[in-house]
Amino acid sequence: MSTEKDFHIKGLDCLRFGVENLQDALRFADDWGLKQVQALQDNSYLFETTDGSQVEIFQADASNPLRTPIGSPSGMCEMVWGVADQAGLDALAAELRTDREVTIDADGTVHSQDDLGIRLAFRLAKRSYIPFNETQFNSPSQPKRVNSRAPRYEKAQPYEISHLAIGVDNAGDAVKFYLNRLGFRVSDRYADRGVFIRCSAEGNHHHLFFMNGKQPGTRFNHLAFKVRDIHEVIFGGQHIDSQGWTTFAGPGRHRVSSACFWYFLTPFGGAWEYAADEDIVTEDWESTDFAAEAHIFTEWTFGLEKSDGTLKGPISQSKAETLND
Ligand SMILES: [Fe+2]
Repeated sequence: MSTEKDFHIKGLDCLRFGVENLQDALRFADDWGLKQVQALQDNSYLFETTDGSQVEIFQADASNPLRTPIGSPSGMCEMVWGVADQAGLDALAAELRTDREVTIDADGTVHSQDDLGIRLAFRLAKRSYIPFNETQFNSPSQPKRVNSRAPRYEKAQPYEISHLAIGVDNAGDAVKFYLNRLGFRVSDRYADRGVFIRCSAEGNHHHLFFMNGKQPGTRFNHLAFKVRDIHEVIFGGQHIDSQGWTTFAGPGRHRVSSACFWYFLTPFGGAWEYAADEDIVTEDWESTDFAAEAHIFTEWTFGLEKSDGTLKGPISQSKAETLND
């Protein structure tokens, strides 16, 4: 379980992706509703969500370890965590230096690796809360939206990065580094084949999900972006669909974390997910070991048969194959 370590990690600040088809990836990021903020050096492109969560995209390059995705030709090259203060960054660097290489950029970003060789970085968090008018819902006898129509969206405008999912050989082993060294906490366990963990006691239900992959090895599975409400999940997904991209799963609602979701296949070596209304937890949250049951992935969904409970994968592979026929 968790330790008492607290490095003031706030969440995922940036994901770096190396891709085989750069133009497709840039088009997908734009369709997804991310805002391109600048072209970096060396043909690298930086996109942001509303709160400043970032995705950096560049051509995968097997000759450059920094641009070599983990486990697949397109995929994640590095996850960057946002830290609240310099004291936390300094403590992280000291902790990691006890048994592994640590480098620090001129801007203070700390780079290292986890026990599986996944590249990690830590920097002062660039994300910040941007006020917006939260959606009001009318319940029977409890009207919250009066004389006002419900919101419509032309396309999604993701508010923030929510969580990252990585397929591994043994999720129970993979999370140990994060629990024991970085002070993460277990939020829930998934059918004895996956573990949801969070970087802080209070906040998002999970920031990382390690799952036993169908294929051997370690590789990016999906990245979730939080949108404002379920309407934005649906409108956003419809827009992505209209641009010719393929649904991986959804829309639906997760049993674990309660999120309404819609996943799409992407040029990033895995799926991207719109998510709304995820559970928010505190240190009083009680984790659950979910049983391997048919509805564990989704309580309800459209366009996807229910999981048969055999848990070959978190998302029905047969549906993806059908869609690709
Ligand atoms: Fe997810």
